[in-house]
Amino acid sequence: MADYDLVVRGGTVASGLGTMRCDIGINGGRIVALAESIKGGAATLDAGGLLVLPGGVDTHCHIEEPSRGGYTSAGGAPVTEVTVQEESFGSASVSAFAGGTTSVVCFIPQWKGEGILPRLADYEARAAKGMVDYSFHQVISDATEDVLEREVPQIVAKGIRSLKVFLTYEPLHLSDEQYLKVLVTARRHACLVTVHCENYAAINWRTEALLKAGLTAPKYHAWSRPPVVEREATHRAIALAELVDQPIQVFHVSCAEAAEEIARAQYRGVKVWGETCPQYLALTAADMDRTSDKNGGFEGAAYMCSPSPRTVEEQGRVWEMIRRGTLDVVSSDHCGFSMGRPGMGKQSGGTAVSFRDIPNGIPGLAARLPILFSEGVSKGRISLDHFVRLTATNPARLMGLAPRKGAIAIGADADLALWNPRKKVTITNALMQHAIDYTPYEGLEVTGWPVATVRRGAVVMRDGVVQAEPGTGRFLARGPYDFIAPRGVVANGFDAAPPPGS
Ligand code: URP
Ligand code: ZN
Ligand code: ZN
Repeated sequence: MADYDLVVRGGTVASGLGTMRCDIGINGGRIVALAESIKGGAATLDAGGLLVLPGGVDTHCHIEEPSRGGYTSAGGAPVTEVTVQEESFGSASVSAFAGGTTSVVCFIPQWKGEGILPRLADYEARAAKGMVDYSFHQVISDATEDVLEREVPQIVAKGIRSLKVFLTYEPLHLSDEQYLKVLVTARRHACLVTVHCENYAAINWRTEALLKAGLTAPKYHAWSRPPVVEREATHRAIALAELVDQPIQVFHVSCAEAAEEIARAQYRGVKVWGETCPQYLALTAADMDRTSDKNGGFEGAAYMCSPSPRTVEEQGRVWEMIRRGTLDVVSSDHCGFSMGRPGMGKQSGGTAVSFRDIPNGIPGLAARLPILFSEGVSKGRISLDHFVRLTATNPARLMGLAPRKGAIAIGADADLALWNPRKKVTITNALMQHAIDYTPYEGLEVTGWPVATVRRGAVVMRDGVVQAEPGTGRFLARGPYDFIAPRGVVANGFDAAPPPGS
């Protein structure tokens, strides 16, 4: 019998802590040997001339998420039916592997007026059909006593360790009081809270004024939510988390103003982390001003997400916040709304009459690593190690998935992306291999591309061809982990939300 199921031979391993020429021996889906030269192996994968990276860990993906009308502002298109985003866990798995990603964290929805358990079984069943390894954030959009006291402990017992809240969107947004209750619950059950930070009232006020002035085109989405709206909510989210002494991650930071709030809190020792996404590095608000006859003049909708893409100058400032370490995770915020399919997606079944009706969110699962590598490493903005930390090591650590995920180390799952750092590719929708009818990155030229993806020792992508059995993705149960433990710093020394047993 061979010593190893698979040997990855001849590559340059980039672990996030430097690079080394190293072979990798894999058995039972795990890395069992790292050495200059490993002989044997039932199968081999030639990595000569390539970088060998940990498989991407994308901790912010909206996949096959049942929703009521998508993510819109108050007063948007009336919600008549339940929509499921077009990407299935099967198609998203293909896209993930095509782009070098091997693990995702997605969102179990909660609809107002319902508990969280009713959606759980359905969502678990959907995810179990995919091939990519997965975990869940639990959305809390209705913070009732029953949800927080009876249901949350049950989802935690299942290995779900992050609660997601929105400070905007209709009908998802929470009041400060509800957000505080979620923070307290998370502290009691040792969960992370992830937060969408934008001011609900401010957005709706400005949106009403824009529409009254006849400014309805997609580009006015950006005008409805300038950076100050994000900065205010980021400040508030952090301040309340600091008060409760509950660690949080601020999702999709689009601008320096918001990142500075995070930096200031980090300087005080507050446990707050910041994520950004490729759309804030490769798109601008001007993209929402693209007009063509395509899609009934709503072409700009293809670039619409929240917070909004900003300016080229702001992109530079976000890079600086990445370089300083204030923003330490880059996720895709992948969202499966197509442009042209009736009844679903960006046109809200043809009823979209203004930017307010267009669901927010854009696809980017397969594009995340190539864009960050090209714009970051190839253009000299960040080092290769930094790239690995942003896309695999840090997200895995923050979500309690490390060192099983996000690492090339003995005992870690053998999740790898074999990367050609010199390969030049022009991004097309076909290359994304998702179920969505467009990519906002069409035509973008990148240098650096994944040529093979290994998930738990199985070669699931080679030269763009994905081969994996549906249903082989594994749920990643997360137990308690020290990284997100509260600091034990509370105002006046009085802990108003003591964790159990303290
Ligand atoms: O516009 C976005 N980001 N859509 C996805 C939902 C969210 O806010 O994360
Ligand atoms: Zn969000
Ligand atoms: Zn999102």
